Amino acid sequence: MTNPAATIEETLQRYRGEVNEALAGYLEAGPAVPQRLFEAMAYSLLAGGKRLRPVLVLLACEACGGERAAALPAACAMEMIHTYSLIHDDLPAMDNDDYRRGRKTNHKVFGEGLAILAGDGLLTLAFELVARRTEPPEVAAACCADLAAAAGMAGMVGGQVADLEAEGRVLSGIDELEAIHRRKTGALLACSLALGARVAKADRSLREGLVQYGQCLGLAFQIVDDLLDVRGDSQALGKAVRKDASRGKQTYPAMLGEEASAVRAELLVQQACAALKPLGDRAGLLEGLARFVLDRDH
Ligand code: IPE
Ligand code: IPE
Ligand code: MG
Ligand code: MG
Ligand code: MG
Repeated sequence: MTNPAATIEETLQRYRGEVNEALAGYLEAGPAVPQRLFEAMAYSLLAGGKRLRPVLVLLACEACGGERAAALPAACAMEMIHTYSLIHDDLPAMDNDDYRRGRKTNHKVFGEGLAILAGDGLLTLAFELVARRTEPPEVAAACCADLAAAAGMAGMVGGQVADLEAEGRVLSGIDELEAIHRRKTGALLACSLALGARVAKADRSLREGLVQYGQCLGLAFQIVDDLLDVRGDSQALGKAVRKDASRGKQTYPAMLGEEASAVRAELLVQQACAALKPLGDRAGLLEGLARFVLDRDH
């Protein structure tokens, strides 16, 4: 029997390499692109990171019988949007962080104005990339619409607003916290699965099963992120720890305690894996990835 944990580690490493190479190729300087803007975009985009979302796009595509090379533009677009969300998340007006992906945050190096615009540049480049390079055009259009919905006001941006508005406030309960996490983090993660399924031209029911996996995984991912803020290591994470409490952030450990939060994350990963049933034995790597999300230290 194969060891799914070992297999996913190797796969993650290989697919991450492909994503990194493709990202570097898609980020092209041109005569009209200001040099500092290009440097600021490259600084954060090519700084490493787990590349979890693009790998999910590739895995979903393959699990649905597609060729992962066909999903690379959508995968890289997802990573560009995620990276933009991190650049903005770190700004003084938001979480005010100094370190990200093991280096100084974008605004610390390039200044706030350029950091905001580097984020804007990555967001818009993501849509250009999918529109121009995903085939056929109707799949590209559907991917653009999914990305816009997941990144926008009812998805990540909406969740980030709710996250800011909740700072220092008493929430009505765990449902309100969950609604924040589902949007700020879950939406893009779930969308990654949808994009892979779309490129593979999977039928709707298969796509919906994968999206359900992504929603559960996305929520588990943010719970683990909250837990790592409390008990993680800044060196391994490449970002500061023990920041959430001081900023009055609403988090799972703050609301439920560490133990109950870990139990909740475990349960969500089980639910995520249960949603993979329709894939049969093609679900192995996605199951391994869900385990990785739970057990990660970075
Ligand atoms: C961090 O995301 C922000 C959250 C949504 C919690 P990741 O932990 O995936 O960050 P990178 O991409 O690996 O740097
Ligand atoms: C970030 O959540 C979510 C998005 C960037 C959309 P956090 O604020 O918890 O992420 P970290 O801890 O700074 O990576
Ligand atoms: Mg934040
Ligand atoms: Mg933050
Ligand atoms: Mg966090």
